[in-house]
Amino acid sequence: MTRDALLNQKGGVAKTTTTLHLGGTLAAAGRKTLLVDMDGQGNLTDALKVPRLEPGGELTLARAMLDGCDRDQARSLVRRHSENLWVIPSSLDLFTLPRQLHSTRSKEERLDWVLELLGDDFDHCLVDCRPALDVDTDNILRWAEHVLIPVDVDEFSLKALELLLGQVQTLVAETRMPMPHYRGLVINRIARPFSGFHAKVYDALHHLPLPVVGEIPLRTVVAEAKNKGQTIAQYEPKSDVARMFRDLAVKAGYLPETPAA
Ligand SMILES: Nc1ncnc2c1ncn2[C@@H]1O[C@H](COP(=O)(O)OP(=O)(O)OP(=O)(O)O)[C@@H](O)[C@H]1O
Ligand SMILES: [Mg+2]
Repeated sequence: MTRDALLNQKGGVAKTTTTLHLGGTLAAAGRKTLLVDMDGQGNLTDALKVPRLEPGGELTLARAMLDGCDRDQARSLVRRHSENLWVIPSSLDLFTLPRQLHSTRSKEERLDWVLELLGDDFDHCLVDCRPALDVDTDNILRWAEHVLIPVDVDEFSLKALELLLGQVQTLVAETRMPMPHYRGLVINRIARPFSGFHAKVYDALHHLPLPVVGEIPLRTVVAEAKNKGQTIAQYEPKSDVARMFRDLAVKAGYLPETPAA
């Protein structure tokens, strides 16, 4: 199973949207794909129209991270959305998870303990992060083998990236975890034509040490798919956005290049 974090502490840069539609693209290509909603806001869970897990009533991911769990319990967290696509839904106790993790031992390793139990069940696992750099995102980084960074064309994206890359380096140095591999940047919510200022930011994003592996325009079909609880690959597979997510999946190294027809 590939282990991917979709991470950026900057809010609203389409982390959730990219997780959903990249995941849908991989599922449509026949890959068994698990999405994990690590954000208490539950936007990914809601977009898939899957019920949230109820703290107290059933095991939640946060509870499993705090108490530990066995393979059957880890599997009980997973809900099926559609063919080849599963999700571990959000739950409200994710909001208090960082505070609770701070008083545990091995506090950055807890997600790894749970998700490694599911490693044989899926081809890909994509984790949608909340917009933060805290002990819960440290858990995701510790678990992840790859990091894909959604960004938008905004001057603060450049600053946010600097902070994010610094945080990863600090974590690697402090915990001696292996350095995750950066798949690259996905520039999302692109609205053309650009103003002169946005053109400069767009250009700067292409001149960073990380490759740009995807470019997704702002489109109403994205909101429509979400309202239907579908991925773009299911809702409008012939749309330009669906094609761009397929291009992303190839360029970022998830799917092989298909020979031109
Ligand atoms: N390509 C797109 N076209 C149109 N709308 C989009 C596109 N990508 C994202 N959006 C919309 O932009 C908003 C922010 O996207 P999203 O929720 O995916 O960002 P996020 O980074 O996950 O936010 P947060 O930091 O709050 O978790 C959402 O309403 C989403 O539907
Ligand atoms: Mg989100």
